[in-house]
Amino acid sequence: MNILVVGGAGYIGSHMVKMLLEQGHCVITYDNLSTGFRDAVLGGEFVKGDLADAARLDETFRRFLPDAVMHFASHIQVGESVEHPARYYANNVANTLNLLDAMVRHGVEYFIFSSTAAIFGEPEYLPISPFHPRVPLNPYGRSKWIIEMVLEDYERAYGLKSTCLRYFNAAGADPSGALGERHEPETHLIPLVLQALSGRRDSISVFGRDYDTPDGTCIRDYIHVTDLCAAHSLAMKRLMRTDASSCYNLGNGQGFSVQEVIDAAERVTGRRVKVVDRPRRSGDPARLVADPRLAEKELGWKPAYPDLETIILHAWVWESLGLPSETRRHVA
Ligand code: UFG
Repeated sequence: MNILVVGGAGYIGSHMVKMLLEQGHCVITYDNLSTGFRDAVLGGEFVKGDLADAARLDETFRRFLPDAVMHFASHIQVGESVEHPARYYANNVANTLNLLDAMVRHGVEYFIFSSTAAIFGEPEYLPISPFHPRVPLNPYGRSKWIIEMVLEDYERAYGLKSTCLRYFNAAGADPSGALGERHEPETHLIPLVLQALSGRRDSISVFGRDYDTPDGTCIRDYIHVTDLCAAHSLAMKRLMRTDASSCYNLGNGQGFSVQEVIDAAERVTGRRVKVVDRPRRSGDPARLVADPRLAEKELGWKPAYPDLETIILHAWVWESLGLPSETRRHVA
């Protein structure tokens, strides 16, 4: 099949492109390279384009006739979204509408959407099922929830079928070491801990030790990026087979605290990291843990790398080997 991967030069998108190519699909990456990297796209066609550019989208749809679209291109930082909501509504909402409208114009029916645990806000119960109330607390979460609602309307009016995949904490790297997490600036816990362990940073900050959790630090559900991509692939197959739109929560169903992640990273690398305690980061819920059972049941999805140390090990291989040469020497 011809699969259009929007945002295929980013962290999760680039892993998806690799998996789809390995599965034998024709992959077209559409990315404006604002945060992604051209060299992270390991094959297929590449179109440098912006989602605000309807003519470029039309040209791409006409040229490649995609059977389905996977959409990874969005801004992802909660804090930034509070400070600059316009950026989030312009990119995550308005640009996504441009993409959906192009799909409707060109008769492409199947859409896989990268959503987030941030649509749930402060959890009312754990683990969080896909039916948990959606009360996003910040513009990032709201931008994703808006698109989930738009998709219901687009299906009713235009017959567009979609699967929304709500990621918990995406982490890890391709087990081959060919790809990994590469955000500039990096804000996520696991890559930051590993950068501190490799010497690229002095220390790791712990944002708050006064949460209502056993060790006082926040608990998250870390899910391997390869497992996330496998879920996309299964979701696309199911969507095309059944024509039934749906939403799934993607996590391992197990939470680890910030301190447990740091301890695990020290075990995996055999090194010690300098930890600096800092105040809470605003907008961080104490615990986020997914209930992934619906995805397991309906998609037949089973994470291959649920173990936290394996997730960290793969990220460490990338941190050690996968980065440009000037950073490699730190871990030689
Ligand atoms: N943390 C630290 N120190 C750091 C970085 C993070 O203590 O240097 C803590 C955070 O406070 C949080 C945990 O580590 O408690 C995880 O933080 P991340 O930034 O790695 O991930 P988040 O849970 O904040 O964010 C993830 C996704 C978002 C999504 C969110 C859902 O990256 O896109 O989950 O709530 F919105």
